[in-house]
Amino acid sequence: MANTTLMMIKPDAFENGHIGNILEKVTSAGFKIKALKLTQLTKRDAETFYEVHSERPFFGELVSFMTRGPIVAALLEKENAVSDFRTLIGATNPAEAAEGTLRKLYATSMGENAVHGSDSDENASIEAAFHFSKRECF
Ligand code: CMP
Repeated sequence: MANTTLMMIKPDAFENGHIGNILEKVTSAGFKIKALKLTQLTKRDAETFYEVHSERPFFGELVSFMTRGPIVAALLEKENAVSDFRTLIGATNPAEAAEGTLRKLYATSMGENAVHGSDSDENASIEAAFHFSKRECF
């Protein structure tokens, strides 16, 4: 059964001009775009979105990175969307990401890793509601 996942194309990928290439690879891999926007997170948005990491030593760095410029948020649909999208994006650390994955192609470091994908169906729903209202989803 088709399900959904939430993608963010992060500020590093926006700054480096990779938005078009990433969207092309995502749709070529069979993901349907159900919602899409260019936006910028406030400090409070980023602290809320990444609350699960709030005790981690890199939290401040993560919030400042994610708020420094525009991001693309997208709701994607596919069979096994969450796990297939995590396969497509590759390991958190681009140095460990498989050839052809989005992070291998476009990320520069563990912190500035180009793309976010939800890690569970439950978080996909929470993250989709964070970025999109019902009328923005098609
Ligand atoms: P993501 O998996 O999308 O969500 C959590 C983010 O925290 C992760 O991407 C990285 O951007 C960031 N992150 C994870 N581990 C580290 C780390 N060791 N140092 C800096 N940032 C990190």
